[in-house]
Amino acid sequence: MKGNYRGVAITGSGGAKPSQVLQNQDLSQIVDTSDEWIRTRTGIRQRHLAKPSESLSELAARAGKEAIAMAGITPDQMDLIILATSTPDDLFGSGSKIQNLLGANKAVAFDLTAACSGFVFGLVTASQFIRTGVYQNVLLIGADILSRWVDWSDRSTCVLFGDGAGAVVCQRTEEKDNLLGFEICSDGSQNACLNAPYCPTPATLTSEVSVSKGTYEAITMNGREVYRFAVAKVPEVIEKVLFRAQLSVEQVDWLILHQANQRIMDAVANRLTIPPEKIISNVASYGNTSAASIPLALNEAIRQGKIKSGDVIATSGFGAGLTWGAAIFQWR
Ligand code: ACO
Repeated sequence: MKGNYRGVAITGSGGAKPSQVLQNQDLSQIVDTSDEWIRTRTGIRQRHLAKPSESLSELAARAGKEAIAMAGITPDQMDLIILATSTPDDLFGSGSKIQNLLGANKAVAFDLTAACSGFVFGLVTASQFIRTGVYQNVLLIGADILSRWVDWSDRSTCVLFGDGAGAVVCQRTEEKDNLLGFEICSDGSQNACLNAPYCPTPATLTSEVSVSKGTYEAITMNGREVYRFAVAKVPEVIEKVLFRAQLSVEQVDWLILHQANQRIMDAVANRLTIPPEKIISNVASYGNTSAASIPLALNEAIRQGKIKSGDVIATSGFGAGLTWGAAIFQWR
């Protein structure tokens, strides 16, 4: 279809990781754990962690720069930048700072928070602006530094997370729409399963007025509940999106799930009857990088030449909220 048709094409990808690496063995010096426990329960072998001097904005901008270069455009051609993150440098958001770091002078930028579902929610948001004809070029970055919000004395969570950033460029196309289907979901009734809540300290201003001052607590998670939720909801939402896209499971070339746990990826693929060789996984090297995990895995697979033009990719994010969602798209 030609003319006014406004399809979405994903034309560039990028990634950035902090230079510091923490191996499983290193963790066993911090908490009562072992490389064997972490590997067999999660598939994680190491994670990259941001130094105190590193910022989320810089990490995200590096990933964004790579994605823009691969798309063959320049930062000043970007119309919109969406930063999916739960860990901005600033409570008011880091999107605008990234816009400035990239020199994307024409772009509007904002943050989007949906924890580990942030990339999928961001992809859906980007596609709305493109399909309605408002914007031509959108940069979507998923970036998180969860190491700053982890309780490093809690072995049930600190072994799971890592830091990183991944990005894609979405562009308007007059050719076929490459976003074949999507669905995004929330269930706030299960919010307490996984959160990092605001922790108030009451402060009295006058005899009649008091406020609270505070910070956020470290991440707490009911691992078993989140595991059960992911293994039930993720296959269901992918099946729904496949149905809407009128695709069969056999037509999926690659499954890229949120990189939380290898066992979750294997269980979801098994339920969907997707063979293990179609699973893209880098959780062993990065751990759970939250909003960054899907675009980081996508970017690596593209740059390794695994994912080729026209390949059908089924992706799904899931996490705090609780939130989850799936998108099926074709690489440019
Ligand atoms: N090292 C050694 N032992 C440990 C560790 C550790 N790091 N952590 C927990 N254990 C112990 C527990 O204390 C428990 O001991 P007990 O039986 O004596 O009480 C035992 O190991 C089993 O603990 P479980 O929590 O039942 O372990 P499980 O097999 O469920 O694995 C895990 C835990 C890996 C967290 C798993 O539940 C999981 O992957 N859940 C999903 C997490 C997830 O996907 N999160 C994604 C969203 S993240 C986001 O949105 C920010």
